Amino acid sequence: MILGIETSCDETSAAVLNGKGESPRLESLVILSQDVHRVFGGVVPELASRAHLTSIVPVAERALADAGASLGDIDAVAVTNGPGLVGALLVGVAFGKALAHGTGAALVGVHHMEGHLFATSLEHPDAVPPFTALLVSGGHTLLIDVEAWGSYRLLGGTRDDAAGEAFDKVAKLLGLPYPGGRHVERLAAEASPDDARRFRFTKPMVRGDQQLGDADYFDVSFSGLKTAVLHVVRGSDDLERDRAAIARAFQDAIIGSLVEKTARAAAAHARARVVLGGGVACNGALVAAMRERLGPLGVEAFAPTPRLATDNAAMIARAGLFHFERGVRDSLDLNAYAAVPIPGMAG
Ligand code: KG4
Ligand code: ZN
Repeated sequence: MILGIETSCDETSAAVLNGKGESPRLESLVILSQDVHRVFGGVVPELASRAHLTSIVPVAERALADAGASLGDIDAVAVTNGPGLVGALLVGVAFGKALAHGTGAALVGVHHMEGHLFATSLEHPDAVPPFTALLVSGGHTLLIDVEAWGSYRLLGGTRDDAAGEAFDKVAKLLGLPYPGGRHVERLAAEASPDDARRFRFTKPMVRGDQQLGDADYFDVSFSGLKTAVLHVVRGSDDLERDRAAIARAFQDAIIGSLVEKTARAAAAHARARVVLGGGVACNGALVAAMRERLGPLGVEAFAPTPRLATDNAAMIARAGLFHFERGVRDSLDLNAYAAVPIPGMAG
């Protein structure tokens, strides 16, 4: 039985996973989202750390209670130790160490983005390697070829803003609350395709003459698109009338770019599966566009439900189980890192 702990950003989460190999059972998952950051329009690191401090014990207790388990049943504590906000990570790492030390359970540090790679497999037994992964969150945009669990190749990423960050910034321009991704999606759904055509944005970093081997073949970039939206917003003489159409045109462009790059990655490695992860994978239009594009190529796209797409401890427990079964044991020297490479990542 593995207890997962996640405190890398603004969610305090704990989960209990039970079983072995490819089909462990998720016994419980508790996610406490810190609401305080809404007031500031972004995550305030000090406030995040303090909120983790007050909630980590009750969140972990609730996860154990929901699983009908006690501390003595836990074989390993899997805790996110990077990347993320160091002060926030340290709360989970210190708590995980204390638990492991006190109970004799093993301690396994987990890379947050490797957790996202495993998340969808908790719900879809076929979302397992080999596959192409597109991880799109507030802080990261990564296109990864997953040959096997633990064997990864980084194909591309963002050159500036992360996909979720672009959604959040455009939401702000359109007067929507933080975090803005789901508000942009909802607003975009109000616009017809005809509406959106009035504000067409080019798909960033997508050109027909790009070839495998070119530096920009798999990479994405969203800051130019954000600036283009800014100009259109400033130029509008009736933003109330135009907002939905602008949101739709922005979303179409960002999705068009992500889908094209993902299709290229799947083709380049002859993968029959694409797995999405991260908060932006909650976007129904992204998932639908991915399926529409990949289906005819014989490639199946898997997306996690929102609870497992956004930050959660179930995915950390799952990635931790993988390493635990391979004999990984961290010591009480385990540290937290703001930036750290995914273990097993080449390229
Ligand atoms: O993975 P996540 O919960 O946290 C990070 O690790 O960053 O991702 C949060 C991001 C935010 O930028 C949020 O606006 C975005 O995911 N997001 C969405 C949607 N739901 C959440 N973006 C687009 N469409 C959505 N429906
Ligand atoms: Zn995340």
